[in-house]
Amino acid sequence: MIELLTRTPSAWGERAASRLPELVADHAACELQAAVFALALVGRYPGDSLLVDRLSALAAEELRHFRKATREARRLGAKPHTRRANPYVSVLRAACRPGREPEQGLDLLLAGALVEVRSHERFLVLVQHLSGEPRLARLYTELADAEERHGPAYLDLAERHAGKDAVAARLAELLVVEARAIAGPATGPVAVHSPA
Ligand SMILES: [Fe+2]
Ligand SMILES: [Fe+2]
Repeated sequence: MIELLTRTPSAWGERAASRLPELVADHAACELQAAVFALALVGRYPGDSLLVDRLSALAAEELRHFRKATREARRLGAKPHTRRANPYVSVLRAACRPGREPEQGLDLLLAGALVEVRSHERFLVLVQHLSGEPRLARLYTELADAEERHGPAYLDLAERHAGKDAVAARLAELLVVEARAIAGPATGPVAVHSPA
């Protein structure tokens, strides 16, 4: 289990629920990135059968989420996302140590775990603000259940990759990076990982 250092403020949920087309379009892009990230790990570690099996299955699930979120974004009349940066994910990825194993795989798997845990936490906040949108409330409740499994799945792979002690030490550091990445002033478009 990963315990995040900060909780999402209710203000994020209010802002997200007031700008649903923008939020759902960003969410669709996140799901696609989640699938691509998982598949990139499959491609990076083709000799790790368990990782290949679990992350290819996870990628397939993220792709189904992408299709559902895309359908909802279109229904809401959202402009489709073109390629866009996710500053939150970029900060986490920048903290990943490149080049040496097991550090590289450890960091990438923990970054994956943290994004999943935060996304799960955000979906639960969002659902609290969707009483006027039962269809979306159902979708985000369903997706929260899936994302709740994904954090522990990455964490388990990280422990198998680098050992429990290495995971505990590095997780403590990356949790601080994560808390900093998700915080900030509420400027710019609303997004799954926007500060507010
Ligand atoms: Fe997902
Ligand atoms: Fe996920």
